Amino acid sequence: MLLLLLLFISCTRKEKSVRYSYDFDNLPDRVWAGEDFWTIPLEDWQINEGRLECTGNSSNMRTNLITYPIRPGNGTFALNVTCGLLDKGDQEGTVGFSIGVKDDEDPDVKAACYFGKGLNLGVRTNGVLFIEDQTVSFPADFSWEKFHIRVEGNFSLKGKAITLRLMNEQQEEVAWLVKESIDEIEGLIVLGVNHHVATPFSNGPSFWFDDLEISGTKISYEEGNRFGAILWAMYTNSRNVLKLTAQLAPVSARVNGEVHLEIEEGDGWKKLATEKLRADSYTATFRVGNWNPDLEVNYRISYSENLKDGETSDYKYTGTIRKEPVDKPLVFGGMTCQYGYGFPYTPVVNNLLKEEPDILYFSGDQIYEGNGGYSIIRFPADRAILNYLGKWYMFGWAFGDVMKERPTICTPDDHDVFQGNLWGDGGRKIELEDWQEYAGTSGGYIEPAEMINVVHATQSSHLPDPYDPTPIDQGISIWYTDMVYGKISFAIISDRIFKSGPKEVAFWEEGRRDWITEQGIDLSRLDKPGLKLIGDRQFEFLTHWMKDWKGANMKVLLSQTLFANIPTHHGSIDGILAGDMDSGGWPQTPRNKVVDLLRRCYAFHVSGDQHLPLFVQYGIDEFRDAGWAICTPAITVGYQRRFLPDRLGIPYQNRPVHNLDNTGEYIGGMGHKNYVYAVGNLPDNTRSELRYERAQLSSSGYSIITFDPESRDISCNAIRFLADADRLRPEDSFPGWPVTVNQFDNAGINRTGDKITIQSSGVLNPVLLVYDAKTEELLLSVRMKGDEFSGIVKGSGRYNLKIGDPETERWKTVSDIIANEIETSPVVVEF
Ligand SMILES: [Fe+2]
Repeated sequence: MLLLLLLFISCTRKEKSVRYSYDFDNLPDRVWAGEDFWTIPLEDWQINEGRLECTGNSSNMRTNLITYPIRPGNGTFALNVTCGLLDKGDQEGTVGFSIGVKDDEDPDVKAACYFGKGLNLGVRTNGVLFIEDQTVSFPADFSWEKFHIRVEGNFSLKGKAITLRLMNEQQEEVAWLVKESIDEIEGLIVLGVNHHVATPFSNGPSFWFDDLEISGTKISYEEGNRFGAILWAMYTNSRNVLKLTAQLAPVSARVNGEVHLEIEEGDGWKKLATEKLRADSYTATFRVGNWNPDLEVNYRISYSENLKDGETSDYKYTGTIRKEPVDKPLVFGGMTCQYGYGFPYTPVVNNLLKEEPDILYFSGDQIYEGNGGYSIIRFPADRAILNYLGKWYMFGWAFGDVMKERPTICTPDDHDVFQGNLWGDGGRKIELEDWQEYAGTSGGYIEPAEMINVVHATQSSHLPDPYDPTPIDQGISIWYTDMVYGKISFAIISDRIFKSGPKEVAFWEEGRRDWITEQGIDLSRLDKPGLKLIGDRQFEFLTHWMKDWKGANMKVLLSQTLFANIPTHHGSIDGILAGDMDSGGWPQTPRNKVVDLLRRCYAFHVSGDQHLPLFVQYGIDEFRDAGWAICTPAITVGYQRRFLPDRLGIPYQNRPVHNLDNTGEYIGGMGHKNYVYAVGNLPDNTRSELRYERAQLSSSGYSIITFDPESRDISCNAIRFLADADRLRPEDSFPGWPVTVNQFDNAGINRTGDKITIQSSGVLNPVLLVYDAKTEELLLSVRMKGDEFSGIVKGSGRYNLKIGDPETERWKTVSDIIANEIETSPVVVEF
């Protein structure tokens, strides 16, 4: 057993009295407090020499006892804990309990841990015992080295009362206090340090805890609330390779760290692989070759931790590897950006469970710096890592049950590496001072490479093997790759890691260098040669990906942000902005290059990041001469953006037939010709006291995209935070959604060039590749639907065609087709 757990059940009439105790003596030294606890902030708590220590000095540090809440109704409870001062700090602080901790909005234990309120009681270091505002003083010569706090609750028809007692090391009562006529106490028991303060501080005292005892008839046991040591898992399977990463709590990984993966077979479990636990990220990544995609099977992850007495604590976690869907449309859940006030995002989680997507995509900002209620720690690396992990675990705690039984694509964005607005510049190191001097617009990473690598390991190590794993600058790992699933070929790339910083080109002195505040500036001055968006390495990868159709009928690019700069309003309704370089609209030349590549292979683009649901058709030279893209709603919007061109009098043309405001063809902030088909704008006022209502008002939600590999239709819905997926009403979708386009629309209806028409027979849905006969550049790449196809190419006028079946490698080539001849008569290819 992990913890010394004493369970005495004595039945007296109808009441059941239960007693639990934790002495922590047998636990190895580690950060994680155990499966019955959840400590916040993660980096400020640890198990050390048989005690639970709170080593931080900030306000409101807490250990939530998640498995033994106080239940409603009459009865009694008693809490005992031994504590002592670790560090006095410079400011008066407190130690004690919060009891009956719950969140009024969401009954989930996760919500209680982060947003719950309860009755605060305990000891102040200025010599006062307190239950909320009620206090009593005790002698000044009290020894803080070791003491005991006892809480007794008596709830009966005669009345409700809480008694608090302070005892010295010898168990002699020093002071006591009773609070009567209190309301019902129901919810979590929380150990609190500096938990009374109205104003947060960062120089208070710290304490240790030991011998925690909980007993009484008002205590219940919720085994399902346990969390850890295996917190959750994410997996992908593609091209007969299963990759799965187990995410563990910060156990004593340096002592022993082997994690096992098994699958269910017959009545038992068959071991598939064993991997070492990474001591920095607490992850173990499994790679299983020869995976049968038709197999639907339960998996089990197991981990054993050595205890001090030589025994082990054994932990298990189970999930399901789904059969890859090939005979039905692929249902894809698109998510982005989870600002902490919406945690644990229960409406979105429940809807995802109801929608049963085949695959999930979390495009970035799985954490924000402030999530969980504490700011970031940037240095040193080990502290920054724990600080990141505490926020990262919130993501897994919220979405683990959705992710454990379907493939998950997860890519880090800027906030994930503590750098709101990231221009990674290929991994270059940048000092915090330099970054600050140029208002956050110098290219590079502030955080230590060790921390960035932990972010990449936790978020993306379960993706299919990277296309080219060569690390970037500073030895930072890289994860861009492709995945074939359900006959869809996904390219998964970063549009941040290689991107140049605006400092390179921003020529104005005032204000932020990534923001264009004036209309009408010469945007071409921002488009210097050599600037990067996705970078050379990823562009080379995409040129390889675009012609590889093995197992796939359609292509989809997944990246973090949109390759257009759409919003007109930033931060608030007053924040009007002409352009923003923190969008995929800049730098313009590499943006045009990647959008051109996408239209050549009829690829759809799924992104996030903007916190503004958008459905857009890109333009390069003309409006609508390239492919379609969705920017999915943020799971919870923090920073607000709006697209209100009509209010600003920005001209437009060709509004879609739905005639919604702020839609149609507009010139975007970086000069691109954007066709905005649908936008999920926020109302001017999104204020609400209620967290989930605020999320709903702020255009939060998720998207469901259905890719039909037979009809080639792409159907998108952007759904609001508070919708019920079982009963979706029209108003639960953002205006303009649902919307359906077809794969072949991604060439752009206004594209001009040479028309290639082909008739083929003998191969079902062949792949057609069209090369420029002079430059050998690949101009068109498509999986045909049936025997006939027409497409537009722009090249020298002479083309080579390659047509065939990538599965059987049967190919035919037709060389040196002359454009004006094929306009009139189709090329005929017979196998
Ligand atoms: Fe975001």
